[in-house]
Amino acid sequence: MARVFCFRMICMLDDIAKASSDFDAALANANDSHALDDLRIHYFGRKGGLIPAFFSRLKEVPKEQKKEAGDALNKLRDRLESELKEKSERVAAEEARRKEARSIIDVTLPARAPRLGHLHPVTIVRREVEQIFREMSYTIDPGPEIESDWYNFEALNFTPDHPARDTQDTFFVDVNRLLRTHTSNAQIRAMERWKPPVKVLSAGRVFRRDEITMRRSPMFHQAEGFIVDKGIHIGHLRATLEHVVHRLFGADSKMRMRPSFFPFTEPSAEVDMSCVFCKGTGCGTCSQTGWMEILGCGMIHPQVLRNVGIDPEEWSGFAFGMGLDRVAMLKFDIPNIRTLFENDLRVLQQF
Ligand code: DAH
Repeated sequence: MARVFCFRMICMLDDIAKASSDFDAALANANDSHALDDLRIHYFGRKGGLIPAFFSRLKEVPKEQKKEAGDALNKLRDRLESELKEKSERVAAEEARRKEARSIIDVTLPARAPRLGHLHPVTIVRREVEQIFREMSYTIDPGPEIESDWYNFEALNFTPDHPARDTQDTFFVDVNRLLRTHTSNAQIRAMERWKPPVKVLSAGRVFRRDEITMRRSPMFHQAEGFIVDKGIHIGHLRATLEHVVHRLFGADSKMRMRPSFFPFTEPSAEVDMSCVFCKGTGCGTCSQTGWMEILGCGMIHPQVLRNVGIDPEEWSGFAFGMGLDRVAMLKFDIPNIRTLFENDLRVLQQF
């Protein structure tokens, strides 16, 4: 029997048929829970969902035809609902199964080796220096990094107007405290703590208000050693330092002492060693001299001994201070001090 539909009705039935076949195609392509959620929202979403929109269009359909349109719509809604539900359940079960499979631990697999850390090149050198002195029965005692003027300067015989005391050169924590500018503070503390005969090695961080360059950093490392005993003379100093240079850089490395000045030693010297790169023949690193400076040293100044209550008539001693960063750079062929403090793992993992 031929039926006569109004234009709106035909149009609506066409739209319902199209929505139905579009859904079939979209459902076939929706293979995970996200895509299925999107599909559900597209068809059933309260705001702008196709099915609710069709229901609101029903009021435009003439009364006598509402039933047919309503039936078609209900059928579509029920079918879409049940197919979405069925596929969503299937996909959710499959996803859960895959997640479970991923979380299963195969206890028969060989264990992964834990990644071991690396010692920093400066730490390697510090430990090596400490070991050399431990073997000569020195006490290892690093001393504090935050220090008073007395231990960092005054007791070491720095005059009150010495330039190192200027805020230009020293980091102050407050009016009474500063960051030690060298490890020599540890000498004074150790001499106060232990009566002679005494020998101590102190290695650690020191701080100076320097610009960062290839050779300088506001924080660097020193190792300081001293001995106080009866009859200590400069021969003991030289023999000790030669031993250290040979242990650190090999028995064929040479050293030489040049006269110098430090307020806390008299006489004072600077020590050069034969350039590790050219073995003394002269190259760019040693400015063609064949020598490289590695430490300062001297015989402990009588006034320094007096400052800690040791009688310089009865006791004498030597002291030295060495830059550990410098030694690390020479040993590991690192041209720029910044490389040591940037903590780039690609660099550190080589040591
Ligand atoms: N404190 C000196 C510096 O930082 C190094 C030094 C020189 C230490 C001579 C000493 C010494 O113990 O005797 O440059």
